[in-house]
Amino acid sequence: MTLHLGDTAPDFEIETTEGTIKFHDWIADSWCFFFSHPADFTPVCTTEMGRTAQLADEFEARNTKRLGLSTDTVGEHVKWIEDVNDTQHTSLDFPIVADADLRIAKLYEMIHPEESDTAAVRSVFIIDPDKKIRLTMTYPMAVGRNFDEILRAIDALQVGDANSVATPADWTKGENVIIPPTVSNEEAQKRFPQGWDEQRPYLRLTHLS
Ligand code: BEZ
Repeated sequence: MTLHLGDTAPDFEIETTEGTIKFHDWIADSWCFFFSHPADFTPVCTTEMGRTAQLADEFEARNTKRLGLSTDTVGEHVKWIEDVNDTQHTSLDFPIVADADLRIAKLYEMIHPEESDTAAVRSVFIIDPDKKIRLTMTYPMAVGRNFDEILRAIDALQVGDANSVATPADWTKGENVIIPPTVSNEEAQKRFPQGWDEQRPYLRLTHLS
């Protein structure tokens, strides 16, 4: 099965460092940042787990739950979390899926055989409260992810949903947004009474208050 944007995220029940979770029930009315790691006790993964913990308030502000996955056992995860906390000066406060048999990694296509047959690559799934997959990223094992970009992408999805707009390159929250070309000028006048900067008929930028 190939997972596409807009698909319902496959549901599952699995052991984590915070007990058994049923994925959809656990997400409930939140957004979810679901991200995989090749293995416990590895350097890049340790920094990524730490960064995710350090950003707890940022994810909370975006109503986004964090769920890690690594292809090891709960016992190994628990020991590793001590190292994450020590070395990254944080207190890891979100569950990590114990996927030693790769059941969830395979379900979510996190195994890329040219990288490894036995460990997940660095996948990101941003899932909305309707349990739809809204954004994916895939990084190789040796490249740590950019967490500013992950938060920025969640902002873009949420602002886009709330205002029916698109966001330009390198957009960050508070900057001008794009009125989609599917919206006529007549409709735009109703939706964006503040007006817009029309650089081309298809490129109209407006500011949200
Ligand atoms: C790491 O997390 O550092 C890592 C894991 C697997 C391969 C390469 C790096």
